[in-house]
Amino acid sequence: MKTGRFVVFEGLDGSGKTTQMARVQQRLTHMGIGADTTCEPTDGPVGTLIRQILEGRVSMDPRTLAALFAADRTDHLVAPDTGVKALMEKGRTVLCDRYYFSSYAYHAMDMDLEWVMTLNAVNAQILKPDLTLFIDVAPNTCLERIRAGRTHLDLFEKIDILTRVRDNYFAAFERLKDQETVKVVDGNASEDAVEQAIWHGISHMFTKE
Ligand code: TYD
Repeated sequence: MKTGRFVVFEGLDGSGKTTQMARVQQRLTHMGIGADTTCEPTDGPVGTLIRQILEGRVSMDPRTLAALFAADRTDHLVAPDTGVKALMEKGRTVLCDRYYFSSYAYHAMDMDLEWVMTLNAVNAQILKPDLTLFIDVAPNTCLERIRAGRTHLDLFEKIDILTRVRDNYFAAFERLKDQETVKVVDGNASEDAVEQAIWHGISHMFTKE
């Protein structure tokens, strides 16, 4: 049986990942391709604890937080029936809002990238994305969008942090350029223009067969 594809959307907070992922899902549905959307942190037990930490309701050492993200990811992959692997084995394509490049970008501030990669080695072994799509939006634009939508800002939602996160993403793409397929899309344009650019970058995966 044909397994589905695994496409990951990455970007800073406020980069429009969720909106664009929904648009890709719609396009795939119109083509008759069954696609599910999912995200990390998950709404499972580990993901729920992570969200409490991000909101500042529970405090945690950054190394422990990085380990929790890696554990949440493994749970996301292997959970029976609803996990990413299970969905793909049913032939579903899975569109995922954040995956291990988020860890490489957000946690390589307190720890070095190699350490974070080691922490995620089991996840990379279980499943590599067919494609990671990075929606590149200027950090100040991201912050403006986040502020317009909410009053409360999460742990990483500050200009200097988002700037470092963006640099870390590019450092990780460079470090893994021989092992991972990554496409960077300019996300500063209108939602429709970004959608076109994304579709241009991924449609070949769904039209070859
Ligand atoms: P995000 O999907 O942007 O949250 P929201 O639903 O509020 O838009 O992700 C929440 C935060 O988690 C974001 O600041 C990035 C961070 N994060 C990490 O630090 N490490 C990780 O491995 C992942 C997946 C996310």
